[in-house]
Amino acid sequence: MGNKTFTMIKPDAVENGHIGAILNKIIASGFKIIAMKLTKLTKEKAEKFYQVHSERPFYGELVSFMSRGPIVVAILEKENAVEEFRKLIGSTNPAEAKEGTIRSLYATSMGENAVHGSDSDENAEIEGTFHFSDDEILS
Ligand code: CMP
Repeated sequence: MGNKTFTMIKPDAVENGHIGAILNKIIASGFKIIAMKLTKLTKEKAEKFYQVHSERPFYGELVSFMSRGPIVVAILEKENAVEEFRKLIGSTNPAEAKEGTIRSLYATSMGENAVHGSDSDENAEIEGTFHFSDDEILS
């Protein structure tokens, strides 16, 4: 069980002014931010990040959504981080997300679901290093 996860505050949540509220919830839930930046994905970078979904019918929609505006990317630290963070954000589909979770509060649809959380320790490492170099990550 690892102690790091990777998150993105997606373009919908940034456009809707939820960066501060989402970060507050993350910090209040005991996660320590060890790397963070405001950035924007090019179409090519979004295609690369979501390569695992390239055969899915929603891939094109996902890539254009994720590259349409600024996002916040961050690496978070907490015991059992991947699982704890996925509990905090709730189900991919906001209609199924438990009350009080980030997606139940701030997501608008299955595609535009406000936040990303890594689904495994291995992917947390891959996704974190996709966005940050070693010297940008606090230890
Ligand atoms: P996330 O789990 O962060 O990463 C994969 C993303 O694909 C997911 O969030 C959604 O934004 C998107 N996604 C998953 N399923 C669908 C779907 N059925 N339709 C549109 N987008 C989807």
